[in-house]
Amino acid sequence: MNSTYGTNFRVAIFGESHAPAIGVEIEGVPAGMKIDRDALQAFLDRRAPGRDAYSTSRQEADIPEFLCGVKEGVATGAPLVAIIRNGDTRSKDYGNLANVPRPGHADYPAEVRFKGHQDKAGGGHFSGRLTAPLCIAGGIALQLLARAGVTIEARAVRIGGETDPEKMKDAIAAARAEGDSVGGVVEATVKGLPVGVGDPMFGGLENRIAQAVFGIPAVKGIEFGEGFAAAELKGSENNDPYGIVEGQVTPLTNHAGGILGGLSTGAPLVFRVAFKPTPSIAKEQDSVDLSTRTPVKLVVKGRHDPCVVLRAVPCVEAAAAIALYDAILEWRKEPA
Ligand SMILES: Cc1cc2nc3c(=O)[nH]c(=O)nc-3n(C[C@H](O)[C@H](O)[C@H](O)COP(=O)(O)O)c2cc1C
Repeated sequence: MNSTYGTNFRVAIFGESHAPAIGVEIEGVPAGMKIDRDALQAFLDRRAPGRDAYSTSRQEADIPEFLCGVKEGVATGAPLVAIIRNGDTRSKDYGNLANVPRPGHADYPAEVRFKGHQDKAGGGHFSGRLTAPLCIAGGIALQLLARAGVTIEARAVRIGGETDPEKMKDAIAAARAEGDSVGGVVEATVKGLPVGVGDPMFGGLENRIAQAVFGIPAVKGIEFGEGFAAAELKGSENNDPYGIVEGQVTPLTNHAGGILGGLSTGAPLVFRVAFKPTPSIAKEQDSVDLSTRTPVKLVVKGRHDPCVVLRAVPCVEAAAAIALYDAILEWRKEPA
């Protein structure tokens, strides 16, 4: 399994949902960086489960322990390792799944690929829980970006087909009441990126961000600026004309979502991420027993988010922060 990202700010995520711990190794945190632990904790708390009626009741404190790479709150420049100990595991909830893959989960392809050796409890390494260490790395990247004047803010803009925040919550509650789940869309805006960060072709900002964002479980799509809607526009509608604003060459509209040719344009970078409905649902589903190869009716037990979108909002910020800080380090290597 390969769960690493980046070249200059390298992030390797490890652990399994019901293992003693999950965590992250980060290379590229600059020596001397003072990690703001309170800000990091506040960021992790936005993702943590069991905080409201709209997410799983699994309780986890999600407090990172730094094993190395940090001394007295300051990064040493050596590889940094942070773990979160798993507390509230109930592997027995998964006992009946040993040979029955859950629809919508990685169980079946993982069983074939890893020959049954993968840890199945709680989804193992495929679990949404692995977004906690993603948020440790992302939280640190966000602090590094803030020093460079770059901010990232994401929010849920659609859940269960609803765009009004109260109706979104109602859609989640209704899905939970039916033993079902809903998906939705998170929109992120990045401000303060200098012009020209990124690379053409395979190293473009879109590519980099998409690769990191698809590391978040349940992500099924990403679009930048007008995205798929651009396919329906005329060039005259989709192009962003330039003007001079406060002495700077500036795109006057932002259909491009702040990226042209893989490079930042100086306009805010805007992208939207589509999340599928949570695969674990209380409704009975069809599956097969892999050992007997016979059909079975499956009822997924355990505690699950009826919608992952609200908890995924900081995960999107984290993934984008890792990608953009990595890209900025690449851009800084170029001679002025
Ligand atoms: C923050 C977060 C929490 C999640 N919680 C759950 C959950 O409680 N139950 C569940 O079935 N899936 C949950 N997921 C989604 C699954 O982990 C994911 O759909 C599954 O591993 C299959 O991967 P894929 O959807 O990326 O193909 C969560 C995802 C995220 C981002």
